Formats: sequence, C-alpha cells, structure tokens
Amino acid sequence: MTWRSLFIFLGLFWTTFLGSEMSLICLSDFEEYARDHLSKVTWDFIAAGADDCFTRDDNLLAFKRIRLRPRMLCDVSEIDTKTTVLGKEIAFPVGIAPTINHRLAWPDGELSTSRASDAMNTCYITSTFSSSSAEEITAAAPNGLRWFQLYIFRNRKMSEQLVRRVEALNYKALVLTVDVPYGGKRRNDIRNNFKFPKYFEVKNFENASERSDDLESLTNPLDPSVSWKDVHWLQNLTRLPIIIKGILTKEDAELAVEHGVQGIIVSNHGGRQLDGVLATIDALPEIVNAVQGRVEVYVDGGIRTGSDVLKALALGARCVFIGRPIFWGLTSQGEEGVRKILQILHDEFRLSMGLAGCKNISEINRNLVQFSKV
Ligand code: FNR
Repeated sequence: MTWRSLFIFLGLFWTTFLGSEMSLICLSDFEEYARDHLSKVTWDFIAAGADDCFTRDDNLLAFKRIRLRPRMLCDVSEIDTKTTVLGKEIAFPVGIAPTINHRLAWPDGELSTSRASDAMNTCYITSTFSSSSAEEITAAAPNGLRWFQLYIFRNRKMSEQLVRRVEALNYKALVLTVDVPYGGKRRNDIRNNFKFPKYFEVKNFENASERSDDLESLTNPLDPSVSWKDVHWLQNLTRLPIIIKGILTKEDAELAVEHGVQGIIVSNHGGRQLDGVLATIDALPEIVNAVQGRVEVYVDGGIRTGSDVLKALALGARCVFIGRPIFWGLTSQGEEGVRKILQILHDEFRLSMGLAGCKNISEINRNLVQFSKV
C-alpha cells in the first residue's frame, strides 16, 4: 500500500465511522443525519406538519423571537439542573414526548428510547401507538420514570384495559391526548401513500381483535365525540394522576383545572393537527397565567436547544418534552443516539443557566425573557 492510498483509506475511515459521529454536536446535526439516512417516506412522516406546515415551523421560529435578559456576577460556580415532575425527581427539565412507532428509526425502537431515558434520569411518555408493548418498554428499563399517553377510544373497554395494564406496570401518570378528534391533513403522507400501521398491528393491541367484539373500533379507534365528561369517566376509572396534552388556550386550561386534572401539556402536536394555531411557546404564558400554579404546566413543540428550555421555564413551564429529536437520535445510534440528544440538551441547558446567572431551577423566572418584535 502506498502512502497516498493509506491516507485516502484513513480519510475515508474517519469520515465514515468517526467524522460523521463527531460532527453531531447539536440537535440540528442529528436532524440532518436523519434526513440523509432515513427513507424519504419515513423522513416525510416524521417531519410532517399539517397543511402548509405554518405552525410546525412557527413552533421553532417563536423561540427565536424571545430574547434573554441574563444577570451577571451571580456566582454560578455550581449549577443544579434537577427538578421534579408530579413529585418525582428528574435530572433536568427535558422529557420525551409520546411519539408513535420508534421502530421506524431503529430496530428495537422504544426499548432503546426507554433505556436512554432511564440512563439520563428523565421522564418518558410512551405512546399508545408504540411499536413495543408497555410491558416490553417497562422490561427494558424497569426503574425508569414513565407516563402513559392515552386516547379515549370509541370502545371504552380498550382504553380501560390499557389503563389497567399500565397501572400494574407502575407507570406514574396518564397523559390524555385531546387534540386528535380527527387526524390532521399531512400532504406528503398523502403524496407518499404513507401507511399508518393498522391499529391491531400496534404492539399494545396485539391480539386485540380476539378480545374485542367491536370491529368498527378496531379499524378506526379514535372517538371524535370525546368531551370533558369523558375526563370524569377516566378519573373514576383510575387513581393515577391525569395530564391533559394538547391545550392551547386559557379557557381550556381553566376547564382542565376545574375538572381536577393534575397537569397540562401545552402542545399543538408538533404542528401536525390544526395548522395556523399559536406556536406553543406563544400560547404558554396565557395558560400559566390562568392556571396560577394550581397544576403543573409543561410544554412541547420546537425545543431544539438548551436556551429554548431556559426560555420555556422562564415563561412558567415546569418541564419541556421533545418529539422529533428522539427519532433523529434513534436513527443515528439507537439508545446511544437518544442518550446523546438528551445529554446535549442537558449540557446546553446547564450552560445557558450559568450564562444567564441561574444556579438552580428556582432562580429561573419571567424577568429572564423579553418578546422581540422580529
Ligand atoms: C407525534 N406526537 C404524538 N402525540 C401523541 O400524543 N401521541 C402520539 O402517538 C404521537 N405521535 C407522534 C408521531 C410523530 C412522528 C410526531 C412528530 C409527533 C406529538 C408529540 O407528542 C409532540 O407533541 C410533538 O412531537 C412535539 O413537537 P417536536 O418536539 O416534534 O417539535
């Protein structure tokens, strides 16, 4: 082998196996990696927003419209990022939002996500439509903190069975998603003829056709008639805390508190449902203001950097959740990739706290941010 060919070989080795890895230093690097490595159909499904994708994109832009007002000379030699959600300690205020079918991005899907979440000591909200069952996800990381994302199905028995299973698995809360009375219109999925896994292929429902006598509910489980009275139905069913995911107005936040739920996730489903609604970080302040500390308020949508996390907390969120970046992490390296995504957000958040003059979470407050006109 000549010196020249040795150098070419080393160069190729570096860019293929090491260089690409080492260049993944922020979440948008992982996004680019995933765009390059997933099939177009899968990438489009994960990236999709509804209609013109205005809200999906505004979720990110809205963070850029918020400026920070850092304080100096605060002795930030020690910084503590720990917090609690519903009384359980997590290492930093970034959890994993529920998203369907992680096997689209990595062979063992949610099992990797579950292990990574536990390793990073945070909270994983597992989707009803996961590609691993709640039992499998629990077995992958038995001590991890998990909440279960639930829909109220046409066939209430199906929802009830899920509740019973996750209670037995020591899940700590139910996250009731309320912004999907119908699925949003995602144009690329229509163009690509993307096939949503049939509900009975979803692992949480394996063999469900044998358990259910209601065929209609098997093929079209979501129920557009769900209303606040069904929240009561769920409360009567379980002693687990209930968190409502998908609230965007102070009116609904008020109703949620009146109905006795324990938490609210300000969410627009990553801009995948009604296009044109407020970016979640723009909706957050009115909801925090309406709730007045009576229940915990969380937010998801467009969180991509540690300073985004800082802004969300300054505006009153107790914790944020991330959706698409988990798929990007899985695509790059499975469990290790998700761990890196969380570690990057942890490190960036800690650095942002230090640069803004905050030693701990309780020092993050509304004075830290200002809305900018551009
Ligand atoms: C979602 N989301 C979602 N929400 C939910 O309650 N149940 C679900 O099964 C899913 N599935 C799902 C799949 C995909 C591919 C995406 C992108 C999103 C919404 C999710 O929980 C969250 O609200 C957003 O993803 C947050 O926005 P970012 O972080 O993706 O910008």
